[in-house]
Amino acid sequence: MKKTILDIKKMKGGKPWSMLTAYDALSASWIEGVDFPAILVGDSLGMTTLGYNSTLPVTMNEMIHHTSAVTRVVEKSLVIADMPFMSYQDSIENGLFNAGRFIKESNADAVKVEGGVIRSVLIKTLVKNGIPVLAHIGLTPQSIKELGGYRIHGVDKEERKKILEDAIAVQNAGAFAVVLECIPDALSEEITNTVSIPTIGIGAGPSVDAQILVISDLLGLSSTKPPSFVKPFANLYNEIEETLKKFKESVENRSYHHKKRG
Ligand code: KIV
Repeated sequence: MKKTILDIKKMKGGKPWSMLTAYDALSASWIEGVDFPAILVGDSLGMTTLGYNSTLPVTMNEMIHHTSAVTRVVEKSLVIADMPFMSYQDSIENGLFNAGRFIKESNADAVKVEGGVIRSVLIKTLVKNGIPVLAHIGLTPQSIKELGGYRIHGVDKEERKKILEDAIAVQNAGAFAVVLECIPDALSEEITNTVSIPTIGIGAGPSVDAQILVISDLLGLSSTKPPSFVKPFANLYNEIEETLKKFKESVENRSYHHKKRG
């Protein structure tokens, strides 16, 4: 049965659970096969799949194209589409229009937006109009130029207070869960104990309700090093490289045999 946001909300405070990103039908089918409650079509798409060096250039059309590929093969997991940079920051109207596109055109079940207090009105508007929202606070990669780089957030007192306020604001605005990215363990524990919605951590320590990872980081699919908080479970890049070399050599040394035609 298809998971709903009510199922996700009920998972607050229970057994820890996990989520992964997917960007196409292939990766989504791997995740679906192992029965994860939710899948995020992250705008990390830009770096993992489209060759951009940040998430900033990712467009609505690219996100719709890839989210559609995921929803075509996913029957059980809740599919959440990440709203890309400047698809909701400029106005509430544009945010509602673009969130609506994800539901109508790509069959997503929910959307994700970055930001806390500043997104309260947008989150309320989307929820009131029937669009479930996953919030994302702490390190918010779409603000990377303003934040001054990928670093841990909420280390000093002022930032800690702001991130806690952000968590409470998105909960009160109606978000069904909140992603906490790159914040200290003590702060994610405080947020997890304060809010009534599930907290989903990435680089936020063990005290959250759920963990999310970018699938290519989990699988070691890339030649570049994943962020330091990623615990490697596989190094498939090396295996793929070896397999490609074997195929290439087998053709070159004539040991690769095609079936004869006719
Ligand atoms: O874009 C993404 O993949 C994300 C997750 C890392 C939370 O936002």
